[in-house]
Amino acid sequence: MPNIFLVGTHWGDEGKGKIVDVLSDKSTACVRFQGGHNAGHTLVIKGKKTILHLIPSGILRDSCKSIIGNGVVVSLEALIDEIDNLATSDVQVEDKLTISEGCHIILPTHKALDIAREKSLGKKSIGTTGRGIGPAYEDKVSRQGIRLKDFEDKNFEKKLQNLVSYHNFILKNYYNDSEVPLASVIKDLESYYSQVKKYVCNIEELLNEVVKTSGCIFEGAQGTMLDIDHGTYPYVTSSNTTFAGLLSGTGLSPTDIEYSLGITKAYTTRVGQGPFPSELDGELGKNIAKWGGEKGATTGRDRRCGWLDTKILRKSIKLNNINGIALTKLDVLDKLDKIKICLNYGEIDYNSMSVDDLEYLEMDGWQQSTSNAKSYDDLPKNAKLYIEKIEDICSTSIVLVSTGPDREQIIYRNKIFE
Ligand code: IMP
Repeated sequence: MPNIFLVGTHWGDEGKGKIVDVLSDKSTACVRFQGGHNAGHTLVIKGKKTILHLIPSGILRDSCKSIIGNGVVVSLEALIDEIDNLATSDVQVEDKLTISEGCHIILPTHKALDIAREKSLGKKSIGTTGRGIGPAYEDKVSRQGIRLKDFEDKNFEKKLQNLVSYHNFILKNYYNDSEVPLASVIKDLESYYSQVKKYVCNIEELLNEVVKTSGCIFEGAQGTMLDIDHGTYPYVTSSNTTFAGLLSGTGLSPTDIEYSLGITKAYTTRVGQGPFPSELDGELGKNIAKWGGEKGATTGRDRRCGWLDTKILRKSIKLNNINGIALTKLDVLDKLDKIKICLNYGEIDYNSMSVDDLEYLEMDGWQQSTSNAKSYDDLPKNAKLYIEKIEDICSTSIVLVSTGPDREQIIYRNKIFE
């Protein structure tokens, strides 16, 4: 298997976790490179649901190394919780997990600032996950952030004190909110760090080694339209979720990545605020949400649902150099008699969140279960027509089709993934 970049083509929640899990069977390592515990990858293995937020999904495979690259912002508390949770499911993390010493950490004050800012924005809020992601990246960019390697620095406590005091000043004086006691921040962080220190190191050599042997998976978090530069700004996350983020978040070169796999849901969803041109506000949108179990894996919020937006899909293919698409959750559309594909629209108006000149293509549904299909030929004729139409519109092959949450519910249409 080649070194593969997996990227959500829309606003996240395309089902990357399951595809990573399926492919990690044959992979040597699985790498996260941006975002933090705002991500939520849901995996169902033999009917048992596991949600991962920070640790790469490959951790569930014994032979797969899990690597967290320098571009990820790490909450030590969330990391320890996740390691403990995995241990209760008998998933061993030791010897498999490695975290870059260059990762910036998320402080409790980052979380407090995230929540305070969202509250103060009122109706104009972004709808963040409230995990402190944005403020942590702000400190990274303003060169005052704290990296894991800073725990070993003799000036660590001073640096932390300065930063927390600065945060508390803003919390108190700008947001009129409560401060976070410095003493507890220091005490907690030191205790957390002592528990995770064994996973932290310089990962440059390890990464260069795993890409040489091939079969490495780079697991993007969130989705292309949440990219800080190329997404629906300001309704985005605070990292580069696209191909460029992989490079800066690992230090690898573009030629190390041999295949870019776009993960696309058979319909489109988004969680949080922001424009969504093909959104279905009525009963149908609610039904799709119900059939697809569309609740955020991280915050439990309802996801907004709409028809597949192929204008975004085409943009994603270009931005991420996508070679093939994994189409997920096809089975969710099984009951529909008519299915639309959103082809195009004009400029988005960010004040009214509306858009003109929406163009759709309507197709007949298949009204038959696809969840037990073992091969492409097992799919109903209209489901195949739907898949092939998307391929036509985007000039890109759909190489995998997922027809249910379980590992087994997957159809391979390309040899390299078999
Ligand atoms: P933040 O990443 O918590 O700052 O949130 C910024 C925006 O990204 C909000 O609209 C969130 O709902 C969205 N977001 C963050 N992580 C995810 C994810 O994993 N899936 C889908 N949306 C996400």
